[in-house]
Amino acid sequence: MSGWNGRPVSVRDVRRVMFVCLGNICRSPLAQGVFAHLAAQRGVAEDLTIESAGTGHWHIGDPPDKRSSAVAKKHGVELRSRGQQIDESYFGRFDLFVAMDRSNVGNLRRMGCPEERLALMLAFAPESLKARHPGALSTLEVPDPYHDGPEGFDVVYELVHESCVGLLDEILRVRA
Ligand code: 4NP
Repeated sequence: MSGWNGRPVSVRDVRRVMFVCLGNICRSPLAQGVFAHLAAQRGVAEDLTIESAGTGHWHIGDPPDKRSSAVAKKHGVELRSRGQQIDESYFGRFDLFVAMDRSNVGNLRRMGCPEERLALMLAFAPESLKARHPGALSTLEVPDPYHDGPEGFDVVYELVHESCVGLLDEILRVRA
């Protein structure tokens, strides 16, 4: 499993997962909610700590964007996070940092995030998603939907959901 730069990232012993985007209201809350939902379905929710944060400060304390909550609800997932901004103090508290795009990766690296615990969300997406989303799968970036209409959030949901399935499968596979 490769991380953000093609180098392998190990998810062995990963129990605390932090999803990261820019604002922590659109993409990473959706990833947090979907991953928690899948973990509950697989009976491993109690065993995992799942949070999300943004590299920006604008939405600290805010609920997820209504468009993220709506697309999650459409798929039976409730989003409960409140916006938080990531800083160095999080690096000792999580085993894996899953960034939505390469600018998030750059911000995390500048902050001192350990490289072996840093991955792009779409590094965990199945190859089969390439047919429907060739652009996203070639750059491994979940597009920022903030300035899009609801259809942008449908795309983000599909990318994030498929990647969360892949990530959870991988965590449970190497644990077994
Ligand atoms: P997110 O989307 O990073 O997926 O939460 C954004 C939300 C807010 C802003 C940018 C991106 N903003 O500039 O406020």
